[in-house]
Amino acid sequence: MISMQKTKIILDENEMPKKWYNIQADLKTPLDPPLNPQTKQPIGPDDLKQIFPMGLIKQEVSLDRYIKIPEKVRDIYRIWRPTPLYRAIKLEKFLKTPAKIYYKWEGVSPPGSHKPNSAVAQAYFNMKEGIEKLVTETGAGQWGSALSFACQKFNLKCRVYMVKCSYDQKPYRRILMENWGAEVLSSPTNFTNSGREILKKNQNTSGSLGISISEAVEDAATHENTNYALGSVLNHVVLHQTIIGLELKKQFEILGEYPDIICGCVGGGSNFSGTSFPFLRDKILGKKPDLKIISVEPLACPTLTRGEFRYDFGDSAGLTPLLKMYTLGHSFVPPAIHAGGLRYHGDSPLLSKLTKEGYMQALAYYQNEVFEAATLFARTEGFVVAPESAHAVKAAIDLARMCKYNNEKKIILFGNSGHGYFDLSAYEAYYSKKMQDFSYPKVLIKNGLKTIPIIKATV
Ligand SMILES: Cc1ncc(COP(=O)(O)O)c(C=O)c1O
Repeated sequence: MISMQKTKIILDENEMPKKWYNIQADLKTPLDPPLNPQTKQPIGPDDLKQIFPMGLIKQEVSLDRYIKIPEKVRDIYRIWRPTPLYRAIKLEKFLKTPAKIYYKWEGVSPPGSHKPNSAVAQAYFNMKEGIEKLVTETGAGQWGSALSFACQKFNLKCRVYMVKCSYDQKPYRRILMENWGAEVLSSPTNFTNSGREILKKNQNTSGSLGISISEAVEDAATHENTNYALGSVLNHVVLHQTIIGLELKKQFEILGEYPDIICGCVGGGSNFSGTSFPFLRDKILGKKPDLKIISVEPLACPTLTRGEFRYDFGDSAGLTPLLKMYTLGHSFVPPAIHAGGLRYHGDSPLLSKLTKEGYMQALAYYQNEVFEAATLFARTEGFVVAPESAHAVKAAIDLARMCKYNNEKKIILFGNSGHGYFDLSAYEAYYSKKMQDFSYPKVLIKNGLKTIPIIKATV
């Protein structure tokens, strides 16, 4: 037990978890299986072999509770892990809240976010099976940076389809990726059928993650020794991110505390699932029935708060398997908000199922209020956070204010998924009052949902 106020809890390198946690082992009912996009029948591991290595496919379907982290992956993790758990004492003082606010700071990794937790693992398992090149998409640029970094570590080539609006907004992200040896393309491109189709319909599209995923999947499927890597959504990505929550459990043990509320931003769900699932296990087991777990998303892309829980494609062109998840429809092209990493039409099937079953809740914000919170955070805690992470900051501040109102000494934990040093143009837009708020209208969501294939029977 610690009596004085500590600013941060740092684990020793040898306390870094040796296994990832797989929440599939603790679900009350199994996940609905992914379906073949043509036959609509459940797919097996063999169907994924064209674009993923067997090592990751096995993780995708595994029901083992813990999965060993290979030593070579741990060796790269050690560059920045374990990451610090901070107590936001200065923010608490400013808010005059009786609540304690903690945040797990993932901005210390070389690419600047939680994304390399999975990128390094994915590059390793691909390298092990003789793959020479990985192809991917990137929204905010964080995932592309992480995969570029990871590929460089394992001597793999890397090609990144970067969503056009991010490519234009964030030239330094592109340079960062190139610095690690990656090739970066503004998506949609003319290199793929899916890109050409989109450009035919709308030459000026700002792009979307769904479109870039189609391009990357097509590229990987049509080239030898080339695989695809996804930065979120899939079970194996969520699995790799649980290193965040597993470290947190040790850090809270050192504090002798346990969070009452955990919140985090959700794009495809990887950082927040990784942060919350090791705690959520205690809720599933009935040990922490009152624990609140809250996903935060933009009102411009309100997947969990306004979408539907049903089967949909992971990409725009309908090339990927159908996943049972919250979705706004795979043709959804969100407004070009600054939190590029939160502009995805779907969500992790695991996070979606646990939300549907009431273990998790969700809320959504406008981007101006999110940046107001991020600015307050920078002026109290010092760190300039990514626009995505700023959604979690906003929720934590609101929750702490609620605690003040109700005079409650709750313990609030939020996932601080990355730094915002390549997002300063977004901060500039906020300061110069050029930032627009969007709330995605229900009627457009309804139209988008009409494009989803109807799968009648639950398989
Ligand atoms: C810093 C940061 N946080 C969060 C996200 C959202 O992704 P996910 O929900 O998979 O964590 C992104 C995505 O690019 C990101 O860059």
